[in-house]
Amino acid sequence: MSTDHEWGPTGPQERVLDRGPTAIAHPNIALIKYWGKRDERLIIPYVDSLSMTLDVFPTTTTVRLDPAARTDTVTLDGTPATGEPRQRVIAFLELVREMAGRTEPAAVDTRNAVPTGAGLASSASGFAALAVAAATAYGLDLDDTALSRLARRGSASAARSIFGGFALCHAGQGVGAAADISSYAEPVPVPDFAPALVIALVNAGPKAVSSRAAMRRTVETSPLYQAWAASSKDDLTDMRAALGRGDLEAVGEIAERNALGMHATMLAARPAVRYLSPATVAVLDGVLQLRRDGIPAYATMDAGPNVKVLCHPADAARVAEGVLGAAPGCSVVTARCGPGARLRTGAEQ
Ligand code: PMV
Repeated sequence: MSTDHEWGPTGPQERVLDRGPTAIAHPNIALIKYWGKRDERLIIPYVDSLSMTLDVFPTTTTVRLDPAARTDTVTLDGTPATGEPRQRVIAFLELVREMAGRTEPAAVDTRNAVPTGAGLASSASGFAALAVAAATAYGLDLDDTALSRLARRGSASAARSIFGGFALCHAGQGVGAAADISSYAEPVPVPDFAPALVIALVNAGPKAVSSRAAMRRTVETSPLYQAWAASSKDDLTDMRAALGRGDLEAVGEIAERNALGMHATMLAARPAVRYLSPATVAVLDGVLQLRRDGIPAYATMDAGPNVKVLCHPADAARVAEGVLGAAPGCSVVTARCGPGARLRTGAEQ
């Protein structure tokens, strides 16, 4: 998290305080995926993961304490949240209140610049922004590691969005409190590597199966899961070396094989979890064609049909063209590395 926020005694800054702190966080896309929890309550992943935080689709969240209210209120993109999304935010606030020794209800207002629940990591930016805003609202003084640990309790991928650039999330060791303390993300400095990620939005609708349910089913029923988790360790070692060399071709190949392996584990679940649609496969064909044409482009997909294509920034326009040619119905957004989660300053109001 950036620490450029300062509250002054007067002026616009005071209005920020009246409304409660506002935090901004960006989604991240895993190059080495997290899939499967070994503790569902504490949200402890089975595998380490490594991601790139994006500079597009931020989530902006304000948490205002409301001592006079009877319950928390949660507004998502201007509409009162209901059902599971509301419950997840309230459970998260309860955790923060327990940590802070406080009891006041809060009003949470969240705005996503990304379609929610479409496999575009809105839970990552969402819980990273909520962690920063809620910790501030309830007076918790947490460093980035502790914020990352806290964000993980909302959604494991959110632990990585606390940091900008590239981040590694540790699956941690042991069980219970030992697992909780050892599972957090940290930045992976990669000084000379700034690829582009061309995001092909093939379907912005909410997903049929939540990643939570899909992960559980995969871990419990897929005969391929353990093999993928084991190979993911090797992928991570190879990925760190490739990032260190700034080798886009190697980074892309490893990311693509890791993602396809993850989707293979889901396809082997009983019943199968299939997030990939015909348009996804068309984009994958387009990526193969780009490589045949000599353009290094590599695909990764999450819990949804959208495809993210890693490439050199200088090739991004050509890659976007190739993707649109292969899947004419989709739309394309090009992202670069983005910043970590931070409080919004008074000047940004
Ligand atoms: O944290 P969740 O529930 O949004 O998990 C999503 C996991 C993937 O996006 C599929 C992979 C990852 O590591 O982000």
